[in-house]
Amino acid sequence: MADPAPSRTWSGRFSEPVDERVKRYTASIPFDWRLAPFDIQGSLAHAAMLHRAGILDATDLADIRRGLAEIRSEIDNGSFAWNLDDEDVHFNIERALTRNIGEAGKRLHTGRSRNDQVATDVRLWLRDAIDRILGILRGARRALVDQAEAHAGTVMPGFTHLQAAQPVTFGHHLMAWQEMLRRDAERLADCRRRVNRLPLGAAALAGTSFPIDREFVARELGFEAVCENSLDAVSDRDFAIEFLAAGALVMTHLSRMSEELVLWMTPRFAFIDLPDRFCTGSSIMPQKKNPDVPELMRGKTGRMNGHLVALLTLMKGQPLAYNKDNQEDKEPLFDAVDTLVDSLALFAELVPGIRVNAAAMRRAAIEGYATATDLADYLVKKGLPFREAHEVVARAVRLAETRGCDLADLPLPDLRSFSTLIAEDVYAVLTLEGSLAARDHLGGTAPAQVRAAVARARAELG
Ligand code: ARG
Repeated sequence: MADPAPSRTWSGRFSEPVDERVKRYTASIPFDWRLAPFDIQGSLAHAAMLHRAGILDATDLADIRRGLAEIRSEIDNGSFAWNLDDEDVHFNIERALTRNIGEAGKRLHTGRSRNDQVATDVRLWLRDAIDRILGILRGARRALVDQAEAHAGTVMPGFTHLQAAQPVTFGHHLMAWQEMLRRDAERLADCRRRVNRLPLGAAALAGTSFPIDREFVARELGFEAVCENSLDAVSDRDFAIEFLAAGALVMTHLSRMSEELVLWMTPRFAFIDLPDRFCTGSSIMPQKKNPDVPELMRGKTGRMNGHLVALLTLMKGQPLAYNKDNQEDKEPLFDAVDTLVDSLALFAELVPGIRVNAAAMRRAAIEGYATATDLADYLVKKGLPFREAHEVVARAVRLAETRGCDLADLPLPDLRSFSTLIAEDVYAVLTLEGSLAARDHLGGTAPAQVRAAVARARAELG
């Protein structure tokens, strides 16, 4: 009987060609071509190991190396012809290799399966992506630290319930953002450790009867360890889920920051302005300047969360070991990395462009009676129980409100009508600067502490 589908690598046992729609449905080449450089890297390490183990002779190894180098440059210069008939990136490269170098190309797949091959490729690809993301994340943190230093003493209202609460410095606020990204970097670095393990050698699921050397391949590919169970090695996608979880938190943080940027840029707040190149106008309202970049960043958080849920759902019903379901891990992962890279890079560029309206920030802090807690603390230090002090201050705020002035504008006799413990020295604590300076401990908003936090971050960022 003639081979009905000679282009298919596994077609020997099939009696009719695969349905066209099935071919399109099952092919992953439209997206997994992105794995190509890592597929080649993995194949080179595998071939070197086969040769050392005496499974592949020197001529075959040389042919494979030459053939893969040619394919690599064709892919790089865009001349490689991807073929849907060849299903995925692994078959495309293997078949091109066999076309170019003949017999030796067919020997490359000895002791290997696409199951351990794809798991290896995805890990290599993701490791590289994590390293890129960590680099961009570091840039974003540096940008925050620079702005924080410039605004270590710029006062603004800190909020709870989005109501002005106590004075903080803008630098302190930016360093809070920096802490979020710092934890993100820790999480990604930790996730990288579990990404960086070698599945190759698991073959289809049970291992291989060839005398392979997995430790050698791991060293060649820079993996820290070898996946220790062949069934788990081909089916585990925890590493991808962990990455998406860490990525979803990165986007959650960028989204929170974006939300604040959007809010601060409204004329109602007028705390900041963003450079025109990060904004767009309205087609109908000429007066508008919209903060599209932060808005979109907030919006893209939804797709990241979706990718995380997609992979969790993909895995939850899978029996051991490999199932074709796993092919669905790639598009969410690829899009997640693209989204993170673009969002973090734009954020890192946007932060140095934030222009601060210090006068508006100060005005908002004063109007919000942000030093009310300082007055309460003052009374407590003079011996009044905190709950009573709270009540005295509430009455003082009410008076200031009816007069339309700040607490610091109330004359001493008026303040003393609420408590005779109040004396001339109260004005030192009622000022915004006095309030800031008083919070002078690790993690506090005193400008000196913000500068110390900046110094610590700089030392860590190198
Ligand atoms: N394209 C497949 C994937 O992404 C490669 C592995 C296919 N293995 C198999 N036994 N069908 O998962």
